Amino acid sequence: MKVPEHVSIIMDGNGRWATERGLDRTAGHMEGVESVRACTEAAVECGVKYLSLYAFSEENWGRPQSEVDALMGLMFKSMVEELSNFLDNGIRFIVLGNRQRLAEALNSEIDACMEKTKDNGTLTLVIFLSYSGKWDILQAAKKFALEVARNPGREEELMAMGPEGFDRYLVTAGIPDPDLIVRTSGEMRLSNYLLWQGAYSELVFSDLMWPDFRKEAFRSVLETYSKRDRRYGKVK
Ligand code: FPP
Repeated sequence: MKVPEHVSIIMDGNGRWATERGLDRTAGHMEGVESVRACTEAAVECGVKYLSLYAFSEENWGRPQSEVDALMGLMFKSMVEELSNFLDNGIRFIVLGNRQRLAEALNSEIDACMEKTKDNGTLTLVIFLSYSGKWDILQAAKKFALEVARNPGREEELMAMGPEGFDRYLVTAGIPDPDLIVRTSGEMRLSNYLLWQGAYSELVFSDLMWPDFRKEAFRSVLETYSKRDRRYGKVK
């Protein structure tokens, strides 16, 4: 089976999963953490090299403060609890996004976890936190503009840059573009996720709510991917 190098997931449906059961939305997020663990294990078992997860968008800051706090708290707790698991299983942990908006305590825990796992190579687990595709492209464009302004002697060379050259200004620099983007809960949109990096990603939509998306579902989307014919705009 053709295994994607990078699988990316828009984890959606935690709130609905909880509401359908008469539970608080936070219960859905807590159950969602179990799916994060299951999919991480499945990714290692299947030989996926990069698993990235859209955990919190720039737009999610607009949710009720109590839900934002619960999500950030879960993020903190999960990271602390999973560190030994990451170390035992060769998982490199990375957080990408607008980290200036995160609390100091969370940021230092993220830094510590990233530092301790930086040499692991079995799987890279990327958590997109306070991320949006437009924000990423804009911050990249600003970095590029500054570089041009500060290096007048290199203007011609910098302005001749192609799309591959621009990759290095994005927060995902060094990480291959996702081969497969999955969204759960039956919604069929990208919601401002990896707009640049997802240019040629295969898209798979699952009707399962994220808390119900476990190993079997993960394996099933890999199976769907393996049957896709990727042409990158060319003729085969
Ligand atoms: C989408 O469901 C889910 C989120 C916005 C948060 C995902 C976060 C986690 C699973 C918990 C922590 C993550 C890690 C990486 C440890 P929704 O709330 O939009 O659901 P709805 O569309 O049904 O309202």
